[in-house]
Amino acid sequence: MFEPGSISRQTPSPSAHPYADPAGAIHGDITALIGNTPLLELHRFRRAHDLGARIVAKVEYLNPAGSIKDRTAWAIIREGERSGKLRPGALIFDLTSGNTGIGLAAIGAARGYRTRFYTRDCINPGKIDLLRSYGAEVVQIPNRRFLDPNARDILLAEIKALNPDGFFADQIGNLANPRIHYETTGPEIWRDTGGGIDALVATVGTGGTVSGVGRYLRERNPALHVAVVEPSLASLPSEADPYPDQIEGVHRVSDIPVEALPGVYDPGLADEWLEVGTPEARAAATSLCRTEGLFVGLSGGAAIAAAARLAARPEMADRLIVTILADSGERYLAPPVTG
Ligand SMILES: Cc1ncc(COP(=O)(O)O)c(C=O)c1O
Repeated sequence: MFEPGSISRQTPSPSAHPYADPAGAIHGDITALIGNTPLLELHRFRRAHDLGARIVAKVEYLNPAGSIKDRTAWAIIREGERSGKLRPGALIFDLTSGNTGIGLAAIGAARGYRTRFYTRDCINPGKIDLLRSYGAEVVQIPNRRFLDPNARDILLAEIKALNPDGFFADQIGNLANPRIHYETTGPEIWRDTGGGIDALVATVGTGGTVSGVGRYLRERNPALHVAVVEPSLASLPSEADPYPDQIEGVHRVSDIPVEALPGVYDPGLADEWLEVGTPEARAAATSLCRTEGLFVGLSGGAAIAAAARLAARPEMADRLIVTILADSGERYLAPPVTG
């Protein structure tokens, strides 16, 4: 059993972790700072909401460019370099809701690549500013274009045609994405909980995180409960409201045909899907801020809201729930775009 405080950040031996820098404690570039994020138990949040289960958060905004997508970005770049498909000085491009682009732009800057990203025109201006600060070129696409059910495929075909000599990062189809979570995020959670995790609660952007982490942890503990968090229908863009109050970067999966799901998402892992609306995600993020001093983005708020729902079930009493805080609220401080 765990005692409070027994879940702590550990320094793995250099050979044990794929990101470790063999040179020791002085690191050579930001890629060596990715991963090994801490787990934090939310004691005060649990008391404030009278929850039976323990909730532990993986604080992924402590990655060097501020989100869990630094892992994915580095995995994609590293694999591109190793395969020879990503040549020195090349242009890296993708369609992104921001965080993957920010990770690719930061690592691209540190390793001499140019970057160009295509985003919805409603992503928070704070993310656009960050992308440009790292030197990325940003092309904004009207959100109305995403209302077409085939929008993603149509846009990706256009984007690829516009960048014939560039390196397409392909975060939704590149298996380096879930693989890095299978190799790092999942093992870190297993190690830092001493194998004590009972449930994983995670949102889905591409699905890389929940698929890689879920697969690794389920292999270690076949009884692991996996809850996938989804935005409510009201928070999604529609013809009537193309710029709703949304949770940026996350998508629904439970009512999407399998052939339309991202290639990196494993639909077989989820035991249940928990729907969270934007107001509930915002309330949970505010409560987390006020009880724990953790300022998370709304996808983290949605994950916490869903974890709290699970933690309130009688059968979950004293169980250990791990959830993932993908990014910080600091990148959403600008007023959201409303059309
Ligand atoms: C804010 C935010 N939360 C969560 C996720 C989920 O990550 P994944 O793509 O691994 O499903 C993303 C992905 O883009 C994101 O931007």
